[in-house]
Amino acid sequence: MNPLALDLNEQLSKSNPEIADMLSDLGKLMYYPKGILSQSAEAKSTKYNATIGMATYKNSKMYADTLNGVFSNLDPDEIFPYAPPQGIEPLRDLWQQKMLKENPDLNVADMTRPIVTNALTHGLSIVADMFIDSGDTILLPTHNWGNYKLVYSTRHSADIETYDIFDDAGHFTTENLVATLENYTKDKVVLILNYPNNPTGYTPTTDEVKTIVSAIKSLAERGTNVIALIDDAYYGLFYEDVYTQSLFTALTNLHLDNLLPIRLDGATKEFFAWGLRVGFISFGVSNETTKQVLEAKVKGLIRSNISSGPMPSQSAVKYVLEHADTFEKEIQKNIDTLQARYEVTKAVVYDTRYAPYWKAYDFNSGYFMALKVHGVDPEQLRLHLINEYSIGIIALNDTDIRIAFSCVEKDDIPHVFDSIAKAIADLQK
Ligand SMILES: Cc1ncc(COP(=O)(O)O)c(C=O)c1O
Repeated sequence: MNPLALDLNEQLSKSNPEIADMLSDLGKLMYYPKGILSQSAEAKSTKYNATIGMATYKNSKMYADTLNGVFSNLDPDEIFPYAPPQGIEPLRDLWQQKMLKENPDLNVADMTRPIVTNALTHGLSIVADMFIDSGDTILLPTHNWGNYKLVYSTRHSADIETYDIFDDAGHFTTENLVATLENYTKDKVVLILNYPNNPTGYTPTTDEVKTIVSAIKSLAERGTNVIALIDDAYYGLFYEDVYTQSLFTALTNLHLDNLLPIRLDGATKEFFAWGLRVGFISFGVSNETTKQVLEAKVKGLIRSNISSGPMPSQSAVKYVLEHADTFEKEIQKNIDTLQARYEVTKAVVYDTRYAPYWKAYDFNSGYFMALKVHGVDPEQLRLHLINEYSIGIIALNDTDIRIAFSCVEKDDIPHVFDSIAKAIADLQK
């Protein structure tokens, strides 16, 4: 059991043993991780808060005007009624059209119509409810989003196994994934593929995608049932020449019966609308009966959990998809702003004068980049940066930190990294 859960149980046994006795097995196992959210909370009053998974300006969030203004354009029938469990139908169609436009290699016949989720985390949980039994193996890169552990390991007792996606020099490599899949002998596996990656901001190139897809194909052809869960939270935030379709498309096009590609995506990051809670789940299958069965089961899971998602948010996303011309320009402007921050970050972090302090992991997309810091404890560095430099960063593990350049103005980026170097130098003494 996680030590934080143990601690909560002990506290409850003292404060109210009767309630401690009432907890279910899952209730006993549950805890609130000391992860990104608590580190973010501690950095709340810093001048440069590069902890959060949003995109911000100095004094406001980065959003699209059309989406901000949408609520005064909705009519009461688009706000107050229940949405159906699977989401409002025109929104499902509009999102599917968006997917097909962005993924020219994807054939409409090879996918289910996207079902609306209460954003991506809800989709992750639906996948777990539907496909994960206790002891099933989830394969993840070592650099992964912390919430997977709570969803798959804590809630569903899955076994999480990790492989490195970076070599010692910090360069992306497919070698370990390929080796892990080659040596995999069980009859079922869940692969979570999240690119642009949180926390490193890496998206594979077309050649790297070919290698990944071919390794997954070989594993499936050897008889393992493969669930390939594509977490496309940061889809579209690409700043270099990378594979810009979804891995969902490449895997769906393999047309293997024992390989099930599942795509989770949504408005959260793509539309700069974190709090709207609109996401989608789609399956890469072509058989019509299979499509209907999967949809019925997902609807049942939604009905028995949140019943249905929020109508105002769904109507808002529908509205902007119907007004795509203006909206796409606004979104592109935000992406351009992030791209400019990315360029400055790239120019700064590889400067040789910082070589004594860190090594950057390859990055080319998304909100974040990660550094392996030399000779300091990331947690100590994090606290030192808050206290002495008014800078918030995330301590990822024993060696790495994550910096959200999505939350730092372009002109402040050199100062932020220079201060991180100074803080490391302070602690190296
Ligand atoms: C990789 C990844 N997947 C999923 C999510 C969750 O997204 P949502 O807010 O839509 O639940 C996040 C959010 O930070 C994320 O970084």
